[in-house]
Amino acid sequence: MKFFIDTANIEEIREANSLKILDGVTTNPTLIAKTGRPFMEVVKEILAEIPDKPVSLEVASTDFEGMVREGEMLAELGSNVVIKIPMTVEGLKAVKHFEYKGIKTNVTLIFSPAQALLAMKAGASYISPFVGRLDDISHTGLDLIADIKTIRDNYDFDTEIIVASVRHPLHVIESAVIGADIATIPYKVIAQLAKHPLTDIGLERFLKDWENVPEKPF
Ligand code: G3P
Repeated sequence: MKFFIDTANIEEIREANSLKILDGVTTNPTLIAKTGRPFMEVVKEILAEIPDKPVSLEVASTDFEGMVREGEMLAELGSNVVIKIPMTVEGLKAVKHFEYKGIKTNVTLIFSPAQALLAMKAGASYISPFVGRLDDISHTGLDLIADIKTIRDNYDFDTEIIVASVRHPLHVIESAVIGADIATIPYKVIAQLAKHPLTDIGLERFLKDWENVPEKPF
């Protein structure tokens, strides 16, 4: 399972990258706005830190021409840039356009198997179903991941499934059980994945007992 980090915060990206388990980065307009910094400054820093793994950058237009214009501009910034496109009819047309030009796409804001199927048929390189936002409205987000995985495998689509809107470690673990290709995870949740109270308690005990070991070599 690949781990992407879902952030535009360069410190979080650097920290996660230093763990050597990072396979890519996803951003969206909300995450870029949260940094409070100019768009190009943020994006160039991210691409300098992650030059050879997929970095999703989202278009802001909602019409086909605008999405193509913005996506082509973003694609110029690096061969690893993936154009993030909203799941709309205009967006699907843009996906087809970018597929034809050999530019990778990530179709975002997917909330149903029907939307996922359409995006896969349009030739999306990645699709991003949002689990947390479905949970927020009392739908089980992970059921969507299972359905999409079945559809993708039934027809052998090339599209990779990115579990997005991840809110806690169970979203990641259950996605791994289902067999999702990728989870895009906020930094806080990556840190939570490493933690277990019994590990902390166990380590504390080992360190205390270590004090009683005679003639320690270190
Ligand atoms: O990648 C999409 C993700 O950032 C949305 O997360 O927590 O705003 O639903 P959230």
